Amino acid sequence: MKTLIAANWKMHKTRAEARRTAQAVADGAPRGTDRSLIVFPPFTAVAEVAAVFAGREGLAVGGQDVYPAEKGAFTGEISPAMLADAGATWVLTGHSERRRVLGESDALVGRKTAFALDAGLNVMLCIGETLEEREAGTLEEVLRRQLREGLAGVAADAAATRAAVAYEPVWAIGTGKVAGCAEVLEAHALTRRLLAEILGPAADAVPLLYGGSVKPDNAAALLALDNVNGLLIGGASLEAESFLRIAEAR
Ligand code: PGA
Repeated sequence: MKTLIAANWKMHKTRAEARRTAQAVADGAPRGTDRSLIVFPPFTAVAEVAAVFAGREGLAVGGQDVYPAEKGAFTGEISPAMLADAGATWVLTGHSERRRVLGESDALVGRKTAFALDAGLNVMLCIGETLEEREAGTLEEVLRRQLREGLAGVAADAAATRAAVAYEPVWAIGTGKVAGCAEVLEAHALTRRLLAEILGPAADAVPLLYGGSVKPDNAAALLALDNVNGLLIGGASLEAESFLRIAEAR
């Protein structure tokens, strides 16, 4: 399985800034390795980044969200076909900021995941517990619910070929508090087991990414852990230089 190194730019960068960063990523990206780089820019910059990455193997672009309908009266939303038309081959679903800031339910995340997969996109489903949930001892229950509902209606073969799961403990996102290696190891083993409950043997083919305060100096240790098949990076992905150092970390 290829290692996925993904940049979540969140609500950062104008088109010109996105183009410049994407160009620096493309210029510095390792060629011919076992790693794929995916950049999730804001919607307005998806086409810009796609144009810079065009024709480059191992570099892909995705949307940060998607609406589960082909078209219609959904003000402010974007369809899988629109993302694909702009050059996206990936989309994030269920990022914790959408769940918490925008109030997205597990059921809506599931509809988005299934619809985007059906429409031909690769989907990175984000899951993760809050600090209160972890301290209450409900980690397994939370991840099981997020995975079950997030993958409801997803066929095992679609998941195996075009889905990834990003485990991002909410308490580690943007806080500088990276989950310790023991916690990541445990959560990723648990995620793999829960995926097998849902998908059967296809679960083994689904890349599991860790996200939450990943930096150039902790990337290698995280990537060395069992069941960590990639990283999803927010803050440290905004500068090409630090994103590339993470992409090369071993
Ligand atoms: P962070 O964000 O790397 O800034 O913690 C990760 C994410 O939200 O995907």
